[in-house]
Amino acid sequence: MARESESGLPVEPVYGPDALTDWDPAERLGEPGAYPFTRGVYPTMYTGRPWTVRQYAGFGTAAESNARYQRLIENGTTGLSVAFDLPTQMGYDSDAPLAHGEVGKVGVAIDSVEDMRVLFDGIPLDRVSTSMTINAPAALLLLMYRIVAEEQGVPAEKLTGTVQNDVLKEYIARGTYIFPPRPSLRLTADIFRYCRAEMPKWNTISISGYHMAEAGATPVQEVAFTLADGIAYVRTAVAAGMDVDDFAPRLSFFFVARTTLLEEVAKFRAARRIWARVMREEFGAKDPKSLMLRFHTQTAGVQLTAQQPEVNLVRVAVQGLAAVLGGTQSLHTNSFDEALALPTEKSARLALRTQQVLAHETDVTATVDPFAGSYAVERMTDDVEAAAVALMDRVEEMGGAVRAIERGFQKSEIEHSAYRIARETDSGERVVVGVNRYAIDVEEPYEPLRVDPAVEARQAERLARLRASRDGAAVTTALAALRRAAAGTDNVLPPMKTALEARATVGEVCDALRAVWGTHTPGEAP
Ligand code: 3HC
Repeated sequence: MARESESGLPVEPVYGPDALTDWDPAERLGEPGAYPFTRGVYPTMYTGRPWTVRQYAGFGTAAESNARYQRLIENGTTGLSVAFDLPTQMGYDSDAPLAHGEVGKVGVAIDSVEDMRVLFDGIPLDRVSTSMTINAPAALLLLMYRIVAEEQGVPAEKLTGTVQNDVLKEYIARGTYIFPPRPSLRLTADIFRYCRAEMPKWNTISISGYHMAEAGATPVQEVAFTLADGIAYVRTAVAAGMDVDDFAPRLSFFFVARTTLLEEVAKFRAARRIWARVMREEFGAKDPKSLMLRFHTQTAGVQLTAQQPEVNLVRVAVQGLAAVLGGTQSLHTNSFDEALALPTEKSARLALRTQQVLAHETDVTATVDPFAGSYAVERMTDDVEAAAVALMDRVEEMGGAVRAIERGFQKSEIEHSAYRIARETDSGERVVVGVNRYAIDVEEPYEPLRVDPAVEARQAERLARLRASRDGAAVTTALAALRRAAAGTDNVLPPMKTALEARATVGEVCDALRAVWGTHTPGEAP
């Protein structure tokens, strides 16, 4: 009797040769580093270079987060990943009324280039790649990163890193959008064009399925809706006059890794094959790098429990293994206390050590795509691929990802999946160890990390000093030029850089764009 996978696909108790009838390895697999990239995007994968250990981190002031990054680097992290607080993500200054109570809470507070300078103080930006989880104001943080790097003497063309810059999934699942879809997509295309000219090694977008998965999406929905968003971004850039091979090599992706390891490995392998085919057949991409689905993975935060939190160390290890067996390029392993509070120094270090055990004590880096040819995983890869393509076709029939978002299709599908998971958990059909089975009566005490509540006042003081010490006329002139560019068709990043260099704040720059583009409210017509 077949069980059902997370995606609702059959998982047979035994797979054999009949699982892969008329299955052509050359067509379905190819070689590692070659079309259709089922086996991985590089010929040598981890035998050539291990994945980037990239722990998502940030809280409080820039100085506090800088200290955490220095510690992570000392403990062996090989890439940075910046978490910003909600006011920064929503384009408000720390002293804005809407920012009250959120400053420095879920990430670091960045109000101006002065905070950015502190955030990366003592970190050589020519030797580290930095991911920034920032969407609506991605252009601002990208430019402030460039300004700070140039002050370190690092030219823009040498900078490596990523801005998430994926607003479509914000409308679907995460919620940190500012502007309506059309101007948001224009801004995304401006970033593609700007980086092509000024920062050619920078990954311009991290098209994310993680947050949809955390909201309840199944693996098939995660792949289908993420790749459909990717297609929408590619169409936007092509419609803006860019050649697909000019920007596609710098697109990247971001997925979750669940505890259901086999289906997750199948999911990653299927996603690479679908994307390679879409880029070659629909967009006519010629550069092999345009066909490669390079991705970051974060282990599934939503599967971690507040009960018996140490059990999460085991979950994260299995999830991290799934990401590695699936060929991730970059990995964040969650801390075991994720369901309780921001990671402590110790829990963050344990999360890092989990990756280092996978990288140095196991043999998963000894050979590329070890599941290749497996009856079970190859069949599951085919099944996930077929189901994801069918769901992508449904989105396409609605007119593509943006139209489907406006109809609430993705959100509704994900909510149905989330409801099914909740129902199965409540009934005990879905076992959650320590929660609905193997629970204990008395939980051991746990001491969470606390963010200093005075951070908001300190940021407000910094802002007051900044506004008093800068050339106000230069800021006013620069913001007016930005508004003119936003109202026209010129790329908004060059005037935005001038404003940021004059120490315009995140809130002022986003207010200038709000004045021209307005803001998005759910359900409104585009
Ligand atoms: N053979 C040859 N070359 C290789 C290789 C191999 N085996 N392995 C790596 N390389 C090369 C690559 O080609 C690359 O060089 P290039 O840039 O000149 O092409 C270089 O080595 C670095 O390798 P990768 O690009 O594969 O690895 P990176 O770590 O630099 O980049 C990425 C990975 C996925 C492409 C990038 O976009 C990235 O780092 N993404 C991270 C996104 C992230 O951290 N997001 C966090 C989000 S947190 C969040 O949103 C959740 C919160 O809301 C809860």
